[in-house]
Amino acid sequence: MLDNKEFEDRSLLIVGGAGFVGSNLAVKLLEHNPRKLTIVDNLLSSDVSNIPDHPAVDFVFGSITDDEILRKLPEDLDYAWHLSCYHGNQSSIHDPFADHENNTLTSLKLFERLRHSNSLRKVVYAAAGCAVAEKTFDDPTATTEDAPVSLYHDSPYSISKLIGELYGNYYWTRHKLPIVKARFQNVYGPREILGAGRWRGTPHTVWRNVTPTFIWKSLNQEALPLDNGGNASRDFIFVEDMARGLMACALNGETGGVYNLASGVETSILELATLINEMTGNPTPPDIKPARDWDRSGKRFGSTEKSKSMLGFEAKVGLREGIEKTVTWTRENQARIQTCIAQHDYFMARLS
Ligand SMILES: NC(=O)c1ccc[n+]([C@@H]2O[C@H](COP(=O)([O-])OP(=O)(O)OC[C@H]3O[C@@H](n4cnc5c(N)ncnc54)[C@H](O)[C@@H]3O)[C@@H](O)[C@H]2O)c1
Repeated sequence: MLDNKEFEDRSLLIVGGAGFVGSNLAVKLLEHNPRKLTIVDNLLSSDVSNIPDHPAVDFVFGSITDDEILRKLPEDLDYAWHLSCYHGNQSSIHDPFADHENNTLTSLKLFERLRHSNSLRKVVYAAAGCAVAEKTFDDPTATTEDAPVSLYHDSPYSISKLIGELYGNYYWTRHKLPIVKARFQNVYGPREILGAGRWRGTPHTVWRNVTPTFIWKSLNQEALPLDNGGNASRDFIFVEDMARGLMACALNGETGGVYNLASGVETSILELATLINEMTGNPTPPDIKPARDWDRSGKRFGSTEKSKSMLGFEAKVGLREGIEKTVTWTRENQARIQTCIAQHDYFMARLS
């Protein structure tokens, strides 16, 4: 828990607050006794069960692109976090228009609405480290906040996450919207529910990220799929650290600034699979697959220097401890996850 009282009695907003990261942030913020926590979410990639049952929470079901919802946002907002997105790369390749509607227009309309607020102290935007990382399969260097940004991207998701940053910069420079951009590395942990939300056209509606997919398959003693032999690497950050980082951005981030929220540790997908198989006692050997044809992202991890010195933020939970907590949560929530997976059975059966 942060040791200050800045969020106490404040009016807070999380757009996308039913989602994986958003709901973890909501739980952490509620520990600080806010006056009100408004959550706007259309449940496109999340389950309503993720919304904390708490008297301070006001859940608004719908899209943040809806003018009526925007108009009715509280007038006394102190802090806002914009975490809504069209999840994720593969879904956006399948349906770039849905990505535009839920990943680009969301940022534009929200920022345009919030610029008229007189009470806002900070707006934190969930940016994506993958959109700025160098594309390499050689030894990577830590991606810093001032890394050059390519004009060539592998998915509409990657493009729209960057557009959110660009709109954020515009609304900061032009309208003094107090925005802080938080660039996420690969987040994992409790409350990431496989299959949560609506069918988005590909099996990645269910198998939405590497860590929950590996844990689920491993608990079911299935082979873990290793694209390109698991040679790629990522910077895995536990979701409770991410929630603390998002709060630190709101408290200490310089308006207009950008900060990596990263562990700074590079882990290969093979190492991740090996750890999860070991922890769950899965005897089935991994399924070695060729590289994904759209994915050039290779190896990457984030630099933690700026967020350490400027935000006072450092990830605390190591991968082994974080995976252990996530395995325990997955075991405890097996029925809930199974229900979300099963709602896509009809479409999944037709794809196989
Ligand atoms: N999880 C990661 O590893 C990661 C990495 C990089 C960036 N991010 C960013 O962090 C944010 C949170 O990611 P997450 O993993 O929690 O994803 P998530 O899919 O669990 O959460 C996104 C939430 O946004 C909601 N949403 C989608 N469209 C909406 C709309 N039009 N109006 C209102 N709500 C809408 C979804 O229903 C969902 O609850 C996203 O912006 C994502 O791009 C996440």
